Amino acid sequence: MRRKIVAGNWKMNTLLQEGLTLAEEVSKKAEKSLPENVTLIVAPPFTHLPEIKKILPQGIGLAAQNCASESSGAFTGEVSAAMIASAGAGYVIIGHSERRQYFNETDADLNKKLKEALANGLTPIFCCGENLHEREKGIHTEVVREQLERGLADISGDEFSKIIVAYEPVWAIGTGKTATPEQAQDMHNFIRTVLKNIYSSETADDTTILYGGSCNPGNARKLFANADVDGGLIGGASLKADDFLAIAGSF
Ligand code: PGA
Repeated sequence: MRRKIVAGNWKMNTLLQEGLTLAEEVSKKAEKSLPENVTLIVAPPFTHLPEIKKILPQGIGLAAQNCASESSGAFTGEVSAAMIASAGAGYVIIGHSERRQYFNETDADLNKKLKEALANGLTPIFCCGENLHEREKGIHTEVVREQLERGLADISGDEFSKIIVAYEPVWAIGTGKTATPEQAQDMHNFIRTVLKNIYSSETADDTTILYGGSCNPGNARKLFANADVDGGLIGGASLKADDFLAIAGSF
């Protein structure tokens, strides 16, 4: 079902106590100002998940930032989707551009991760997006289409209906350079066309597609006003409870 969602990707920030304080602040402010039709999700580091789960109100979702592509065994340092679910998270970010870029995660790896997440009852937030070079060459739609087609290979329409998509142009992440509302709308609309071709127009219409990349309280309203933008995946601005809630109030 298509929903309005604002998710905070904390990345590798906050020590446990700081994370707990931030989660508490977010919860308190959400109680006062979160619009009823908006779902808030926080994605802290793995180490924080069980502790944050204990203090987070029912209505706020908890996400991991990554999961393993295998289900268990000798994979030192990896965290499985089942472990994430057992820590109390209901969501997992998969395919963030930092994972693709710095940890060489391929579309095939991400396809396995999506399947692991789904098999363990987690809702994946599946990220796609082109880099600056690809945007300048004019091949951004082609790049995103391939990421979606390969990442979603052999995932049925029924399974896909649980997935949230996030469009995050790499050139806009952490750079202060946001996609214009038109660029975001164009790509989100294109993503729905790709999903329509893979699945059906009903599935494409029902998919929640978030925008990510230097989204802040100053630009969220214009981005979220677009017909195909259902919310945001927020990095830097999600580390400040006030900014995060201001973004969530921008629909
Ligand atoms: P940013 O990050 O909001 O700091 O640009 C977004 C993201 O990487 O999810």
